[in-house]
Order: sequence, then C-alpha cells, then structure tokens
Amino acid sequence: MTETTPAPGSPAPGDVALITGGTGGFGRSLAGLLRERDVTVVLADLDSERARQTASDLGAHFAALDVTDRAANAAVVARVEAEHGRLDAAFLNAGIAGQSRETLDVDEFLRVVDVDLFGVVYGTEAVLPALRRAGGGSIVVTASLAGLSPMATDPGYSVAKGGAVAFVRSMAPRLVDDGITISAICPGFADTAIIDPLREEFEAAGFPVLSAGEVAEAMVAAWAGAEPGGAYVVQPGVGAVPYRFRGVPAAKTASGDTAAVPEALRPPSMR
Ligand SMILES: NC(=O)c1ccc[n+]([C@@H]2O[C@H](COP(=O)([O-])OP(=O)(O)OC[C@H]3O[C@@H](n4cnc5c(N)ncnc54)[C@H](O)[C@@H]3O)[C@@H](O)[C@H]2O)c1
Repeated sequence: MTETTPAPGSPAPGDVALITGGTGGFGRSLAGLLRERDVTVVLADLDSERARQTASDLGAHFAALDVTDRAANAAVVARVEAEHGRLDAAFLNAGIAGQSRETLDVDEFLRVVDVDLFGVVYGTEAVLPALRRAGGGSIVVTASLAGLSPMATDPGYSVAKGGAVAFVRSMAPRLVDDGITISAICPGFADTAIIDPLREEFEAAGFPVLSAGEVAEAMVAAWAGAEPGGAYVVQPGVGAVPYRFRGVPAAKTASGDTAAVPEALRPPSMR
C-alpha cells in the first residue's frame, strides 16, 4: 500500500486471521499466503464437506458461518479467541453476485445486500471487541470495483459493495484511537467461481481478468499497511492503487467562508 506506514510486523508468525468466505477463490489464495507467513488462519464459510476439506488442505482451521446470521458471527469470533487466544486480522470477504442481468429482482437484490453488505456490518461488530483485546489490528473488507462505479447488470451487487465502501470510510476514523485499521479492497473481475456465468464472455472478448493471487497480495498488503478507510482498486495490468475520492463541496457561511463541521459530528480523533 502506498502513502502509509506499515503496521509493525503484520502479518507476523503467530498472528491469528479470520477470513469469511474463506474457502472461495480469494479466500484460498489469501490463506495460502498467510500460511506461508506462519499466520494461524481460520476460514469461515457456509458449511460443506468441500469447505472443511479445503481448509484442512491449506493447513487452516474451519468455522461454519453464514455471515447473514448476526449472532453466528459473534459465536465464530468467540471460538477463534477461545481456541487460538487472540484475533489480529479479519478479512470480511464472503460475497455473492446477482444473476438477473436485465430485470430488477428485488428478492435477489435483498439477498445480495444481506450477504455482501450486512455480512460486513455483522462481521465488523463481531470482531471489534476481539481486535481491541489484542491491542489493535486490521479489518480488510472485500468490496469491488462495482462499489466505486455502477454495475448496470447487477445493481444489488453495486449497492452492496458501494455500501461496504461507505461503511469502511465511515467506521475508520472512530477506530483509529484503538489501533484498528479498516480498509476496502476493490478488485475488478477476477478468476474465481463468482465469474463462472460470465467467463466465456470475457474469454470471447479477450478481456483480462485478475488472478486470485493478485487480489490476495493486495489483501495482505492492506493488513500490513492500508490507510484507515482506504479503498484500493485492483485491476489487471495496474496492480493495487488507492482510490482517491473527490469529496463534496463544503458548506459556506453567509460570509462565504467554509463552514466548520460541528465538533459533535466529528470522530474523536478529529476533534
Ligand atoms: N471474483 C471477482 O471477480 C470479484 C471481484 C470483486 C469482488 N469480489 C468479491 O470477492 C469476494 C470473494 O469472492 P470470490 O471471487 O473469491 O468468489 P467465490 O465465489 O469463489 O467465493 C465466495 C465465498 O463466499 C462464500 N459465501 C457466500 N455466501 C456466504 C454466506 N452467506 N456466509 C458465508 N460465506 C458465504 C462462498 O461459499 C464462497 O466460498 C466476494 O465478496 C466477491 O463479491 C469478487
């Protein structure tokens, strides 16, 4: 990550990381990179024999989790602390895409938002106490390029990922004093199961897609040194670059000066 001071020694041997959606494409690549660094990895995912076997093959632990179940998120974190003593990083990465490319299917829209946005909110709520007990740490949210630019074929996905980016940016300032950095990774299309329905179209068009490994590298870098609230675009041929938000026009006073936001509306670190 650029323009940041890397967190000392993170990820380091003995650190404990939780990855939701951890047995999918990005999760597996990320788990592999973290295991190479002797990080203890817990893959949380929908329960299946395949998912359990995947974790075992990677030398990781498995926790059954549906991220839309708020209480289950807290239960998984409690188990991680009980079994491994601490939690240093949480990768809130579970996600699904919609399939209705032309009609607005509101049931599907709500389902995508439930997993991709509320899964992140519940996950954050669950991991914060544990990260505080560890003396600080990182939350890395897998958002998407679709959270920064509209996705005409999947508005629910775009809303969920855009919401995740806004959530990360809004939460970041209030966590700084706890030594907790929350950031978002915003990949373009990448070669995992989620793009199976589109794969032939990418190939036919000669459109480049990321490897899961490229995205996983960006996720590790975000743990080590993301700027709080940062959103990192990952694109083929570009790598991971911080997205620069343009901001909005500030309010002006009657005399034309820029109005200061009332102190009560500023995060503690900015008062
Ligand atoms: N591959 C891409 O093109 C791409 C691009 C940008 C962002 N993303 C995002 O990256 C993340 C990881 O996706 P991936 O590309 O590895 O795809 P993937 O389909 O391989 O992995 C997604 C994982 O999330 C899990 N999951 C789905 N619903 C869940 C739930 N309710 N509770 C717990 N786990 C659940 C799945 O079981 C799966 O293991 C997702 O959030 C996705 O939206 C993917």
